[in-house]
Amino acid sequence: MSTTYITRRESFNAAHKLWRSDWSEEKNWEVFGKCANHNWHGHNFELWVTVKGTPNKDTGFVINLKLLSHLIKMHVIEVLDHKNLNLDVSFLSGKMASTEILAKEIWDILTPHVKENGGELAKIKLVETENNFVEYYGGKDPF
Ligand code: NI
Repeated sequence: MSTTYITRRESFNAAHKLWRSDWSEEKNWEVFGKCANHNWHGHNFELWVTVKGTPNKDTGFVINLKLLSHLIKMHVIEVLDHKNLNLDVSFLSGKMASTEILAKEIWDILTPHVKENGGELAKIKLVETENNFVEYYGGKDPF
């Protein structure tokens, strides 16, 4: 059997702002626009987690989606849902609370749990708005 990709969608909502305290007020507004709003703004995020592999010969599954859903909920959704990404989420401490950074952090969190269960993470897709989403495929950390 050739490589097959399977995806589970979960959702959460969270608040954030894009702001650098080492930049002036003017520069923050210039670069981040209304995402810099002092009193936060929120999104209904959609998280799409894709695992790749060969379907198991007994189950026909690449990974059990019920298990994948459980892993995502336990390790990611529980930590992010109804939270302020800038203030409440320890793994984002000191980092920009952008969708790009969040997608990468979610990848890092889920990778070992998916691996433990015989899967291989292939993609994290994080949808912030109807028009904006990020896709992350792993790779070397540029920071
Ligand atoms: Ni935003």
